Amino acid sequence: MKKITIAIDGFSSTGKSTLAKAIAKTLGYVYIDTGAMYRAVTLFSMRKGFIDAKHFSSEKLIESLDEIQLHFEYNGERGFAEVYLNGENVEDVIRSLEVSKFVSQIAEVKEVRTKLVQQQQNLGKAKGVVMDGRDIGTVVFPDAELKVFMTASTDVRAQRRFDELVVKDPSVIYEDVYTNVVERDRIDTTRKDSPLVKAEDAVELDNSTMSREEQYDLLLQLVRERL
Ligand code: C5P
Repeated sequence: MKKITIAIDGFSSTGKSTLAKAIAKTLGYVYIDTGAMYRAVTLFSMRKGFIDAKHFSSEKLIESLDEIQLHFEYNGERGFAEVYLNGENVEDVIRSLEVSKFVSQIAEVKEVRTKLVQQQQNLGKAKGVVMDGRDIGTVVFPDAELKVFMTASTDVRAQRRFDELVVKDPSVIYEDVYTNVVERDRIDTTRKDSPLVKAEDAVELDNSTMSREEQYDLLLQLVRERL
């Protein structure tokens, strides 16, 4: 059967990855979480002391880019591919609010984007891929057969992210999560290189009041129309 490329972009915490994973499973496609790649580079930078609350040395990070090896490995129990940083499984540790606070600054660095976009294009070149992020339909796969741009109200998104985080860390404060979501969107939409914008030919999906099933059914319908 014909295989297509599915690009899912949108604002933070719009449920992109949940939807992308579900559709990839149904279609037997590879799912790639590109946010996880930017998060892994952020974790690397934090561990090396290149970034903290007071300073960020993009020069040091750029010099060290060759030391960063990322790969994905499928975890059968979880049903998706987890991200590895230099051989270490960092899938869970990169989800912390700490990493979220710095990731958009790292994602602004042109050299970081060039490296990761190249890897993403390689990972998806055989098609049969669902990739989510901020620039998949605009930069990584501008020819993707299906592009979806996801949005939802800020309150809904912050609440979703808070609900996810508080299970792992009960000390998380809602206001901090809300501020982080707003701040990441601000940086992501205003950066010079590959800002978050809806591709002209993307289908917009505002899921503020949609259930997961409704979103899934709509996406599957859009896929079928393109097969
Ligand atoms: O998708 P997630 O929220 O995990 O992404 C974390 C951050 O990584 C985003 O806020 C954005 O700054 C950056 N990102 C990006 N381009 C992508 C994916 C993520 O700039 N394709």
